[in-house]
Amino acid sequence: MTDGRGAGGEFTVLGIESSCDETAAAVVRGGAPGPGRILADIVFGQAEMHAPFGGVVPEIAARAHAERLDLCVERALAEAGCGLGAIDAIAVTAGPGLIGGVLSGVMFARGLAEATGLPILGINHLAGHALTPRLTHGLAFPYLMLLVSGGHCQFLAVLGPESFRRLGSTIDDAPGEAFDKCARLLGLGYPGGPEVERAAAGGDPGRFDFPRPLLDRPGCEMSFSGLKTALRRARDRCVAEAGGLRRGDLADLAAGFQAAVADVLAAKAARAMAAFAAAHGPGTIAVAGGVAANAAVRAALQDAAAAAGFAFLAPPLRLCTDNGAMIAWAGVERLCAGARGDAAIVARPRWPLDAGAVPVAGSGRKGAKA
Ligand code: KG4
Ligand code: ZN
Repeated sequence: MTDGRGAGGEFTVLGIESSCDETAAAVVRGGAPGPGRILADIVFGQAEMHAPFGGVVPEIAARAHAERLDLCVERALAEAGCGLGAIDAIAVTAGPGLIGGVLSGVMFARGLAEATGLPILGINHLAGHALTPRLTHGLAFPYLMLLVSGGHCQFLAVLGPESFRRLGSTIDDAPGEAFDKCARLLGLGYPGGPEVERAAAGGDPGRFDFPRPLLDRPGCEMSFSGLKTALRRARDRCVAEAGGLRRGDLADLAAGFQAAVADVLAAKAARAMAAFAAAHGPGTIAVAGGVAANAAVRAALQDAAAAAGFAFLAPPLRLCTDNGAMIAWAGVERLCAGARGDAAIVARPRWPLDAGAVPVAGSGRKGAKA
């Protein structure tokens, strides 16, 4: 770090993200506890490349990241109106995620650091999501976080920039993954979440009897894979009765599935809030991840928060899904906590935020769920 940088406890960080299907780069300036200023935030999505396959294809993703990272970073620097000379450090997602994509980002960042002499920080992607409420709202520690995306589903007590306690997670599919599979079963497009939400509008969520998995067990562990089996059975029954899916069937199936996911998340959130409150008192529950875009899910979580006496915080959607700003911000947090760069960065397909938590069995698009 050169003289004058970090003045007033503020840093300017270039963030690079490539762990799933968004190639992203951003420039963020600020200091803990936030909020930070997003000077640039560029996301090159890949949804159209993966759409024909109904899910992310790791090889296609890795190649697209490798091809577009330089342009993405160039655009971010141009939009921020600053050269690399104004940057204090490069923060790059080093895991968890699809290893080909993570490697593309880490190698690109290493090259840039080598060429410029800038320090480099390897960021845990989940920490990026978990710290976003500080980037957007300057939320003080501790708070409760529900990370609910295509690859992840966990409740985290966020205690410090590098201190997280996992209160529970899915033991199989992540909810976004479940929405994507639901869409495929119903003949809808990819990504499935928004399609299912659209199809569910006006549907009767009570017509089909979808299970609420693991609600009969204590704790905050969740399960979503049984829902798709229930959905397949209900769909097949409709098809057998009517020779095909009628529009009303489609709406009722989608609405029933969505309501089941929302109910499970809300019921488990209530337990996570109780556990958090027992240790820290009531506070704020924040959400991140693509599934947080779902209006039914949001409403259910908001109600659960109100019932538990918690504030509910949902960052703008753009910052709930994968982006470079959250990685840059996690870099800012680490610099503020005294980090000056990582000597070695290893790309990790699995990287639990809470090293003390018992590993969970589930594994999906982004590897282990915890
Ligand atoms: O956080 P995200 O952009 O990427 C990661 O998986 O990390 O989340 C994408 C996931 C997809 O599975 C997508 O179907 C789901 O979020 N999703 C939704 C909605 N919008 C996106 N799920 C339910 N309702 C939505 N409106
Ligand atoms: Zn993510």
